[in-house]
Amino acid sequence: MGTLIELLDQTELEGVTQPLQRAWTLPPGAYTDADVFSLEVERLFNREWICVGRVEQVAQPGDFLCVDLPAQPIVITRDRSGNLNALSRICLHRGMPLAEGSGNARRLTCPYHNWVYELDGRLRGAPMMEGVEDFREKDCRLPRLALEVWQGFVFVNLDPDASPLAPQLSGLDRLVGNYGFQNLVIAETLHFDSPWNWKILVENFMEAYHHIGTHRNTLEPLYPSRHSTAPDNDGEPWAFLWMPGAQAVAEDSVVFPDLTADERDGLFAASVFPTFLFAATSQNGVWYQLEPRAHDRMDLKIHVLLPPAVADALSDEERRGIRELISAIHIEDIAANEGPWRGLHGALTVQGRLSTFEKAIWQLNQYWVGRMR
Ligand code: FES
Ligand SMILES: [Fe+2]
Repeated sequence: MGTLIELLDQTELEGVTQPLQRAWTLPPGAYTDADVFSLEVERLFNREWICVGRVEQVAQPGDFLCVDLPAQPIVITRDRSGNLNALSRICLHRGMPLAEGSGNARRLTCPYHNWVYELDGRLRGAPMMEGVEDFREKDCRLPRLALEVWQGFVFVNLDPDASPLAPQLSGLDRLVGNYGFQNLVIAETLHFDSPWNWKILVENFMEAYHHIGTHRNTLEPLYPSRHSTAPDNDGEPWAFLWMPGAQAVAEDSVVFPDLTADERDGLFAASVFPTFLFAATSQNGVWYQLEPRAHDRMDLKIHVLLPPAVADALSDEERRGIRELISAIHIEDIAANEGPWRGLHGALTVQGRLSTFEKAIWQLNQYWVGRMR
């Protein structure tokens, strides 16, 4: 793995960091080069705040949720004191993962040789270790990650010196505050195979320019491309895309009571860099849980978020309707992900120019180059 300057062309990188009106896209190698991904693991995924779950997924003492960061399998636990913990879920003995999936347990027991861990990471017992010198169970503890809950989303950070997340999101807080994401729950989850670079999906999520092409018959009539705007983020690690609605939304379909009139008709998409994506209309929120696995693939789960009372009252037919709507839009977006992924490998493919309607991509690119360099 080299430095960014060794991996990508210096002049092309300078094009990326120009003011928006003069800016270029990331060079194709930023997406297609496995060494760039290795550098992203070191500079982004091992150092930045990564969203791994919703607080209601680990609501009760004993609840645990396993997540694979690109360079570390972890587990989020709610211990018996009610505290949330983000821990390495790799056994301190010989490297076995302690758990998979999610569930509720009093303790975590390694399935290999039955070492038992408390939910706060302390080793409680290790059988048949008598006679082993300088080994004291009480000195052993699973490595811990920094953890913060923001708007009901659980973020973790592998860097012990990372600056707290919430103060960096104060501007975004104000923009999404009326939706009350901290009060929502996951009502539905859809899984999608996503064998392409993660940044292609993030970029596509963060501009409405493609409504005129990809979503010409679906989103464009509701949220016209040309009306979309993105505020300045003052160098904070987030972007917000506002898409005003062209049609009035029926009052009785609004599930967020505190929205302004504009918010009731519109759609927002937002990102906390590098990988956290969420969006909402007045009818529901969505969280795109994106987990990069390599330069050429990621796991994608799309979660629909609703107030608990609304989620509980959904009929099967309403649930099916929500799933079909989310699916239909994402299937259109798959074409807009898979196409550029193929295209970026072309021998003649070059760095492109950005529209001013792609400001959020430009904001991501400034962050990306800043952290990667
Ligand atoms: S690897 Fe976990 S107990 Fe041996
Ligand atoms: Fe789209």
